[in-house]
Amino acid sequence: MKHLSLALVGATFALSAGLTHAADLAAGKAVWEKVNCASCHGPDAKSPVAPAYPILAGQHADYLMHALTAYQRGASGAPVQANGRKNAVMGAFATQLSKQDIENVAAWLSAQPGPLAVRK
Ligand code: HEC
Repeated sequence: MKHLSLALVGATFALSAGLTHAADLAAGKAVWEKVNCASCHGPDAKSPVAPAYPILAGQHADYLMHALTAYQRGASGAPVQANGRKNAVMGAFATQLSKQDIENVAAWLSAQPGPLAVRK
């Protein structure tokens, strides 16, 4: 019995390792450039063209992924829902991104130096 559960644990790890894609920073930068996110958020992701446009450089990757997924859920035509973020501009950009694009661009953004920080 003990052997069986160990085997199951091993199989579960192998499966989840196979399903998880590692974020690719170079691909994330390519998404940033291809979709021209810089035209609003600034080329370095911390010099936005208007003060209302958020700084993204150095933001936590999981937060950025959450935000972009929420814009997809709230995109034009989607019903208003608690976990969707309604923004005409970002909804239109977020829907151009795949799940993998989101993971990569979020990882790249969070690796950029920026003023967002937890002071220790
Ligand atoms: C036309 C201008 C424009 C472009 C292009 C643009 N954004 Fe945005 N972005 C905004 C604005 C404005 C907001 C704030 C919207 C709001 O109030 O929810 C925003 C918000 C965000 C947020 C949420 C940040 C937070 O702190 O919650 C993320 C993440 C983001 N943008 C990523 C991107 C990425 C990645 C791209 C390229 C795929 C992109 N943006 C392209 C204007 C733009």
